[in-house]
Amino acid sequence: MSQFPDGSATLAAPTTTTTGRATSDATRGARAEMCNELLVDAIELMLQAKYAHWNVAGPHFAALHPLFDKVFAGALEHVDGLAERVVQLGGCARGTLQAVARASKAIGDLGCDAASWREHVRALSIALSSLSARAVLGVERAEELGDPVTADLMTQIARSTDEHRWLVEAHLREEA
Ligand SMILES: [Fe+2]
Repeated sequence: MSQFPDGSATLAAPTTTTTGRATSDATRGARAEMCNELLVDAIELMLQAKYAHWNVAGPHFAALHPLFDKVFAGALEHVDGLAERVVQLGGCARGTLQAVARASKAIGDLGCDAASWREHVRALSIALSSLSARAVLGVERAEELGDPVTADLMTQIARSTDEHRWLVEAHLREEA
């Protein structure tokens, strides 16, 4: 334990994070695991959005190129929020390429030569829908686990992904 110059003791530095310490380790672990599962979905969405941002072409390029980057920025925010929530709950944020590859829905590689702007829109729509649905389930699960902070994070993610899904899918409605 370190001391202030006047000799009084400071608080010992915690060896683990203490958020949610009032609950059991099992409950905190379940909360962290739930965030980790959503983390890989959010990373997949983030990569999918940049892939679309780079490769999209065609008559709607001027609208879709910045829109896909907006989706990327939103996904990056979710990734950071989820990963940091995992660590706050005492877990290890599994944000590796391997973790994402294991959880991937395999919608990512459209092929650079063949992919049309519609395919990029559809792929991003699927990734947004997937993350949104899991975030809504996450709200319920977090409430069951007595964790309103994680539930709030999940609600923010669901709200944001629903908005981005609406913006992306509007381009498909135009073609119907
Ligand atoms: Fe760019």
